[in-house]
Amino acid sequence: MAITSDARPRTAERTGIGLRLPHIAEVVATRPPVGWLEIHPENFLANPHGLELLTELARDYPISVHTVGISIGSADGIDRDHLMRLRALVDRLNPVLVSGHLAWSTVGGAYLNDLLPLPYTQETLRVVAAHLAEVQDVLGRTYVIENPSSYVSLATSTMTELEFLHALVNQTGCRLLCDVSNVHLSGHNMRYDPYHYIDEFPAEAVAELHLGGFTPEDDEATPGGTLLVDTHAHAVADPAWELYAHAVRRFGHQPTIIEWDNDLPTLAVLIEEAAKADRVREAAREDRHAHVG
Ligand SMILES: [Fe+2]
Repeated sequence: MAITSDARPRTAERTGIGLRLPHIAEVVATRPPVGWLEIHPENFLANPHGLELLTELARDYPISVHTVGISIGSADGIDRDHLMRLRALVDRLNPVLVSGHLAWSTVGGAYLNDLLPLPYTQETLRVVAAHLAEVQDVLGRTYVIENPSSYVSLATSTMTELEFLHALVNQTGCRLLCDVSNVHLSGHNMRYDPYHYIDEFPAEAVAELHLGGFTPEDDEATPGGTLLVDTHAHAVADPAWELYAHAVRRFGHQPTIIEWDNDLPTLAVLIEEAAKADRVREAAREDRHAHVG
């Protein structure tokens, strides 16, 4: 399934922002110089006024639809009503990308307001691959899978996250969203080298990069230890910028989004974060060319 569209080259040129409802009127009024906009469809499914404004923006900006409610890893199966509502939104917006997390968030018909971890097993691979096929079939487009932020490893896993992602790509041909901040914080929490993770990530499948802020909290399981929590409540931290530069050197120029969901700053702050990503990426690309040349 093709991922490209007319809007794609513009997407790759400049970093975009996660568009949250408190900023939407200002974005409509001022048309800020960001490359593209990523939305959570769940914010618009029961919000006709917001959807009207978003539809207007979709005429001027490439839009990315980033779901938080599809629950691709749920053993119960995909919620068809939610999927059909998502399809109506996707048909209306004609986004350049549709994505969601490698996680689960529904059980017994109840939505848990969280992205929960999956055991990395052949059984999970079968479930995720089947759900991915179902989602892509209904939407009629590629559904891009994002690496999770991790806090625990499950004893039932029989492969690493990287092995799982490689197997998923090999089996389904899916594309991946590499959240660089998730790699940084998961590397800290799970005690692995985030640079090695980027080096071993299935580069040929990468369709998008994310950057977002995290919050250090006391790790109750390890006295004196710190856990990095994926709150999207802060600016991108320096180690994540450095890892982003490494990711650009490895993956090349990929469409990038700044995510900020909690303690939302002014739109101007978000635009500056996106501009910073452009500067970091350009410097990394020059570096890459210098090394190649
Ligand atoms: Fe993300």
